[in-house]
Amino acid sequence: MSKKLIAYFSASGSTSRLAQALAAAADAELYEIRPAVPYQRGDLNWMDKKARSTVEMADPNCRPAMAAADAPVADADVIFLGFPIWWYREPAIIDTFLEAYDFSGKTVVPFFTSGGSPLGEGQGRIQQLAKGAKVLNGKRFSGRTSENELKSWVESLSL
Ligand SMILES: Cc1cc2nc3c(=O)[nH]c(=O)nc-3n(C[C@H](O)[C@H](O)[C@H](O)COP(=O)(O)O)c2cc1C
Repeated sequence: MSKKLIAYFSASGSTSRLAQALAAAADAELYEIRPAVPYQRGDLNWMDKKARSTVEMADPNCRPAMAAADAPVADADVIFLGFPIWWYREPAIIDTFLEAYDFSGKTVVPFFTSGGSPLGEGQGRIQQLAKGAKVLNGKRFSGRTSENELKSWVESLSL
């Protein structure tokens, strides 16, 4: 059996709820990717051109610092990578995470919540940043997806 890790970033709780349900469904370890400087409400206002998230996401090379780099990636065969969609792709801190570890020989499974947007260019970006990994197609879920539904999804991946 493959060893699974759920690593996720969540700014307002939806992806966090989803990741917790997924950890139970997949019987996997859960790891939160935390920013060194937490996002405050005003940082998340996408209507504000000067908000932290707007400025960061306008720069494809932005890599916000993480609070820690101690995810047990090396011990896992499969890493489920969870995040909210920000500006039609993965948040910049996900890029920081992907560059901080060695993903070669591993399988990365992106999953995300959003207001409706798909992963878009994020799929290709994640593939490029998770060097040497097999990256499956990212899947969108509601933050309130049931454990049973997640279990069926994990089983369907035949990991
Ligand atoms: C800065 C920012 C940008 C966002 N951009 C998008 C987007 O492009 N498309 C979309 O469908 N939702 C977008 N959203 C909505 C989030 O993806 C959605 O609310 C998500 O479930 C939040 O997850 P969280 O509670 O785990 O942070 C954005 C939210 C924020 C804060």
